[in-house]
Amino acid sequence: MILLLGATGYIGQAFATELKRRNEAFTAFSRKQVDYTRFDVLLNFLREQKPAFVINSAGYTGKPNVDACELDQTGTLQGNTLFPQTVAHACEAAKIPWGHVSSGCIYSGAKISENEKIRVEKDMTQPDLHALVEKKSTSVHGFTELDAPNFSFRDLPCSFYSGTKALGEEAIANIGQSYIWRLRIPFDEFDNARNYLSKVQRYAKVYDNVNSISHRADFVKACLDTWKLGAPFGIYNVTNPGYVTTRHVVEQIEKFLKPKRTFEYWTSDAEFYQIAAKTPRSNCVMDTSKLRATGVKIRGVEEALEDSLKNWKPEN
Ligand SMILES: NC(=O)c1ccc[n+]([C@@H]2O[C@H](COP(=O)([O-])OP(=O)(O)OC[C@H]3O[C@@H](n4cnc5c(N)ncnc54)[C@H](OP(=O)(O)O)[C@@H]3O)[C@@H](O)[C@H]2O)c1
Repeated sequence: MILLLGATGYIGQAFATELKRRNEAFTAFSRKQVDYTRFDVLLNFLREQKPAFVINSAGYTGKPNVDACELDQTGTLQGNTLFPQTVAHACEAAKIPWGHVSSGCIYSGAKISENEKIRVEKDMTQPDLHALVEKKSTSVHGFTELDAPNFSFRDLPCSFYSGTKALGEEAIANIGQSYIWRLRIPFDEFDNARNYLSKVQRYAKVYDNVNSISHRADFVKACLDTWKLGAPFGIYNVTNPGYVTTRHVVEQIEKFLKPKRTFEYWTSDAEFYQIAAKTPRSNCVMDTSKLRATGVKIRGVEEALEDSLKNWKPEN
């Protein structure tokens, strides 16, 4: 049996769907039923029920967006840093392997190779760098699991949410046997306020930047496969290989969904942060070589994006 924490959430629901599809026995409860954030409660459950694996898809995400985390910093720190540490210690004490849903939002920018040297560029909206992105230059590289987070409390600026996610990874590193799965900007074919493709369609104006993104079902399948295939424990970037610009996502939306509206863009970061956003946003490219080297299969971002839009299911 697998224990699924956070099953009521956007990502937890996708884990539950995939576990059912695989006919995997699993137990899922909400904090309302069993307060799994309490160490003693969780440890007792693990010792009594002895699950083969624990999935932690619970955490504190600000709603409607990360700006909300700035207003509840205690809750954000509790949900994204202290709570994962509780799960880590309980799983270690019960000797149960587990996986934790983290985030790629602990990085900003991409890595650029030039003259046999690699440098980090935090702001890929600079015109010369954006041109490299547009032509899919081989000099643009994603952050690997070996790169230290550069959008965190240790490397400011960052949002409070991102800071607590990075600290959460540090807090659980080297405790017991765990996977840290980094999700980034989830999307799929199901229109939903949490779906990136829905968000882009609903923004009054669009913020153009470059990102690696994760198809929700592809993400949960890949996470479960790391465990099924016996991949070494540790951190994995779990995005669809490649990256997209928001402008390209809009073009694909226009091509496949033919919306009635036209899309306008924020003309500058200054305008975006003055009007639409409070705390800094992470935009980044991730490298998925480590994940794919384990034998886990995950389709490229372009295929996943097209597939989602071709099979788009509008919310009624
Ligand atoms: N959605 C994204 O854009 C995104 C991107 C990257 C990473 N992530 C990460 O993915 C994980 C799941 O995100 P999600 O989008 O599924 O979030 P969600 O829809 O808000 O669901 C998270 C679930 O976690 C539980 N929860 C909420 N606050 C908690 C707290 N303080 N302590 C413990 N549990 C709490 C709740 O379940 P119950 O109360 O019912 O038990 C809730 O349903 C989070 O760790 C998030 O940081 C999300």
